[in-house]
Amino acid sequence: MIDWLHVSMRWLHLTAAVTWIGGMMFVVLVLVPIVKAEFPPEKRVQLVAAVGRRFRVVGWVSLTILILTGFYNLWEVSGPGFMSNKTYLSYLTAKLVLVLIVLTLSILHDFYYGPRLENFSADPSQGTYYRKLQQKVVLLARVHLLLALAVLLLAKILTG
Ligand code: HEM
Repeated sequence: MIDWLHVSMRWLHLTAAVTWIGGMMFVVLVLVPIVKAEFPPEKRVQLVAAVGRRFRVVGWVSLTILILTGFYNLWEVSGPGFMSNKTYLSYLTAKLVLVLIVLTLSILHDFYYGPRLENFSADPSQGTYYRKLQQKVVLLARVHLLLALAVLLLAKILTG
């Protein structure tokens, strides 16, 4: 007999993970290289920022679903013997710590550095400061994606 609640929650968790990480991969592997090759520097930030503003909604809806269904998964797997499985608990803790770091980086990228970069891009006189800000946003986005992939690896280790 299929446990539909279990299947639906896992499906939602997986779909949100695919949407969130797949979206970031698309930006890094497809959008940014095309924008760099096809558009002049002054247009690039506006274009990536416009996509970013739209993806921010998709990303935060996905993250909210991941956290809510994640707690459901946690409740489901925390049966008898859960606290004595030290290996499982350490991977789970590592995953949750990484999720917290990823959430912090997402907030910084989406609501602080990203919007600041977009505002400055309208003013080319902000030379060095602007370039430093741009490097910060790119670095944040890369670290963010790498950590998200690490969360995925830990999730795979947990499910076995
Ligand atoms: C935010 C990023 C997250 C990503 C990318 C992610 C990804 C995944 C993936 C891909 C799975 C495997 C699902 C399956 O094969 O059925 C999974 C399972 C799981 N996730 Fe997450 N997850 C995230 C957040 C969370 C959070 C916040 C929690 C807890 C509050 C959580 C708890 C769990 C648990 C308990 C499982 C099941 C492990 C098992 O079967 O033993 N996840 N996660």
